[in-house]
Amino acid sequence: MELKAAIEARTSIRVFSDEKVDMADIREMVRLGGLAPSVNNFQPWRYIAVTNRKLLNEIADLVAQKIDELPATKSIAAANVKKQVTWFSTFFKDAPVLLVLVTKPYVTVLESAVELSHDEINLLRNHPDIQSAGASIQNILLAAVDMGYGACWLSGAMFARREIEKMLKISEPEKALAFVVIGKPRSEHKPKAKPNLAESMEIIE
Ligand SMILES: Cc1cc2nc3c(=O)[nH]c(=O)nc-3n(C[C@H](O)[C@H](O)[C@H](O)COP(=O)(O)O)c2cc1C
Repeated sequence: MELKAAIEARTSIRVFSDEKVDMADIREMVRLGGLAPSVNNFQPWRYIAVTNRKLLNEIADLVAQKIDELPATKSIAAANVKKQVTWFSTFFKDAPVLLVLVTKPYVTVLESAVELSHDEINLLRNHPDIQSAGASIQNILLAAVDMGYGACWLSGAMFARREIEKMLKISEPEKALAFVVIGKPRSEHKPKAKPNLAESMEIIE
């Protein structure tokens, strides 16, 4: 598939068929994710692939609990909104493969030259570690499309980030950053309309 066609065909897939996913395909997607640009070419991430259904259900339960505990507004829609957000944050439990992106600290040369901590420099540079991770995830999403799979990026599960880190034995300075679910789509999906694209660029000559 041409890159442009993959970009145009990609859409978030949240419901999957029972078809087993070949781990070699997931490895290939992660390899392609690793080719993304990253700060200082540091690839400040690693991926954990989870297929264990019991573990996925346990993580989803924790996420649901965390969302339930969030202080609700007085809006009459609050309960319904929480229910929706819970679904969009826990549907990974039924996905064939969950990839957890774990960020690793990168080294910046500036640390040896200025009186600023790594965290201060990271903040001033607008979190290049997180920006790099996003580039890697996008590569994986496009690779998934190219290889006949569907995928979805999830940050909603991070309501239970600390608990997830404990369950997956991720310890400081590493952090869980996002989930990507991958599988064969249960049905065909058309990419969503993206209105106002023309307004998303300004030219200053
Ligand atoms: C940073 C980020 C976080 C996201 N988190 C979630 C999520 O928690 N749950 C979910 O269902 N979709 C999540 N998505 C997918 C978006 O909802 C989706 O990309 C958006 O609705 C546009 O649809 P499309 O991907 O089909 O073009 C996330 C996407 C991004 C980029």
